Amino acid sequence: MKKFLSLMSGGLAAGAVLMGVMFSQGAVAGVANTKHNLGSTGPGANKFSGTAEVCVFCHTPHGSDTSAAVPLWNRTLATPGSYTTYDSLGTSSLDGATAPVGSVSIACLSCHDGTQAMNVVLNAPGSGAAGDASWAAGTWTGSGQLNAVGLITNLGADLRNDHPIGIQYAGGGITAPTKAGASTGSGKDPDFVAPVNDVAGGTRVWWVDTAGGTVNSREKTDMLLYTRNDVGATYQPFVECASCHDPHVENVGNANPTFLRISNAGSAVCLACHVK
Ligand code: HEC
Ligand code: HEC
Ligand code: HEC
Ligand code: HEC
Repeated sequence: MKKFLSLMSGGLAAGAVLMGVMFSQGAVAGVANTKHNLGSTGPGANKFSGTAEVCVFCHTPHGSDTSAAVPLWNRTLATPGSYTTYDSLGTSSLDGATAPVGSVSIACLSCHDGTQAMNVVLNAPGSGAAGDASWAAGTWTGSGQLNAVGLITNLGADLRNDHPIGIQYAGGGITAPTKAGASTGSGKDPDFVAPVNDVAGGTRVWWVDTAGGTVNSREKTDMLLYTRNDVGATYQPFVECASCHDPHVENVGNANPTFLRISNAGSAVCLACHVK
């Protein structure tokens, strides 16, 4: 609050900047305090009594699914071809190429396509894949175990009615820049905010800077782009589910129930990427 007031008295009128600061200050709670904590300590209506662990519903230290580039995924990922992608709707304005459903999006969909129960994991807590007896004896509370059809959280396997994912950013054509370190590059479609990129751990990473946080620094409150080489030989930035959503931060009971990276007041999420 002190920071907020000093910003106000500093005469900083940019509402978007203030929103960003307020939002990131409220967003420190972590995944345990979100609806994505599906264990017995979860604050949401949907949870499983078989464990007090939090990460296990999504990640495992051993035996993860490696069929897509997703961090240590503890659930079976679907075949990319089992989804119908947005491009098949055939809008004449879509410029970017669509990659097969993969990257982090296929991980989100391992719950949000409604095909697998939430407590079906590859490696349950405890010894062996089946884990402890308490896991086997666990019961589910709430309606969302299969994200039954009809719930809006169940996107289904037909993604034509969802914002495109696995889509090249800015119509494609963005390749590694010539200068080292953080720099910008623009795509074929000028109606997009130019992304920033940098080399992290030997891989080039892209993101779209938002008003919150530090300029040219990759943060959770930026719109992260995911590097893929499914279209053309070079690694390029793509929009995936986690470009807009941070699965670890939700802010239960407040203004961000949908895990957005920044507040969408004034459609700030949309305007972070689209020049409209
Ligand atoms: C509901 C599913 C879910 C839960 C629960 C979850 N994660 Fe994740 N996590 C993801 C997804 C999806 C990604 C990839 C997208 C991204 O990078 O944000 C990810 C990425 C990560 C990454 C790599 C990228 C980064 O942000 O550093 C780490 C590390 C991580 N998770 C750790 C954890 C830990 C530790 C926990 C438990 C305290 C946890 N996660 C709980 C879904 C989850
Ligand atoms: C382990 C299963 C699981 C994974 C993986 C998972 N989610 Fe969820 N997600 C849930 C459950 C369960 C809920 C709560 C549903 C409810 O309470 O109605 C939820 C809630 C949400 C909500 C809030 C919905 C609302 O209307 O309140 C959003 C947004 C969301 N998830 C996005 C994502 C994204 C994006 C990813 C990947 C980065 C992801 N989830 C990965 C299970 C998962
Ligand atoms: C371009 C940004 C963007 C992308 C990409 C995106 N979402 Fe969302 N999503 C949003 C916004 C914004 C909302 C909030 C909508 C609202 O307030 O109704 C949302 C809401 C949701 C909800 C809650 C449903 C609702 O409308 O209340 C779920 C579940 C969800 N997203 C999951 C996903 C999953 C899974 C993916 C990837 C397949 C994904 N999202 C990709 C921006 C995005
Ligand atoms: C992370 C960047 C990003 C964010 C955030 C984002 N978009 Fe997009 N959006 C894209 C990209 C990239 C495309 C594909 C555009 C293309 O190739 O023509 C797209 C496509 C679209 C399309 C369909 C274009 C077509 O021609 O069929 C619409 C409409 C759209 N976005 C609206 C929104 C809205 C509304 C929001 C906020 C809820 C939003 N977008 C947030 C990057 C983003």
